[in-house]
Amino acid sequence: VKFKDNFRPKVFVTHNDTPIVGINLLREKCDVIVSETNSSQETLDKIKGVDGIYWVSHEKLDGKILDAAGPQLKVVSTMSVGIDYVDVEEFKRRNLPLGYTPAVLNDAVADIGVGLMLAASRRFHESRLKIDSSQWERRPQWLLGQEIRNSIVGIVGFGGIGETIAKRLTGFDVAKFLYCGHNKKKSAEKYNAKFVPFMELVAESDFIIIICPLTDETRKLFNSEVFSKMKKTSVLINIARGDIVDQDALYEALKNNQIFAAGVDVTSPEPLPADHKLLTLPNFYITAHLGSATVKTRNDMSLLGAMNILCGLAGEPLNEAAY
Ligand code: DGY
Repeated sequence: VKFKDNFRPKVFVTHNDTPIVGINLLREKCDVIVSETNSSQETLDKIKGVDGIYWVSHEKLDGKILDAAGPQLKVVSTMSVGIDYVDVEEFKRRNLPLGYTPAVLNDAVADIGVGLMLAASRRFHESRLKIDSSQWERRPQWLLGQEIRNSIVGIVGFGGIGETIAKRLTGFDVAKFLYCGHNKKKSAEKYNAKFVPFMELVAESDFIIIICPLTDETRKLFNSEVFSKMKKTSVLINIARGDIVDQDALYEALKNNQIFAAGVDVTSPEPLPADHKLLTLPNFYITAHLGSATVKTRNDMSLLGAMNILCGLAGEPLNEAAY
């Protein structure tokens, strides 16, 4: 990108743990201020007068922030694919470019999804608990799990990550893929994935993987009614956003063996309090929102967000625009 007339923009980066590759890329052409404390107050104080904001934290990003920056603000990019914490309508209203970082994290997030499927269906955590408490039982039907082979896998949201999961699972000899969402997806044809209504997916799937955006439509989509329609042997995986699942209902479903197990990378809130009731269940599997947390993927995200900002500052289309 090229800026006009020796323009050297000011960019604020809201988190000091942002992988350095993105910050260095910005520094080639901009004066970069990186947050010292990562606090919202520091952000509010330091964004005044900047040309670009690299919004690395998952804090609420709304009109109040944009006002605090001022009218010279030219672009904002997040470093995430999920942008449920952003008031996108406010960006549209102001015609202000908003970048985000999809696609580069598809593989890493799909890996976590498949990892949780295996861990939850084959009872990794429960077996560790049994060993820790000297309760190993020598009998053929001890700690039996569910298999991915010949199973029906339902993917709620067949976007880039959903498709990558289907690609991964093809090697597991899945019987059938189902998916639901707003529209049929061309990318699903390759996997013979069948587009079905949500409730049909719920009732038929042996594994359900949630990988859709959090919106008003998907908030608490998985509630007690839905759990009551799932197979008793089914495994629920959530690698999207915690609020898509009603956690009280999930607790009841797992405790009463209404479903077999759940594996989640996301919860509401994050972190889940250490004394949360879900953490007492042996068939509840959890990772600490690590979907995109690999060295390579976080570097790629850092670079992509930085490129979005450079494009926005030059008045060019962003690499990945959120609207
Ligand atoms: C995302 O990109 O939305 C992931 O949740 C990690 O931030």
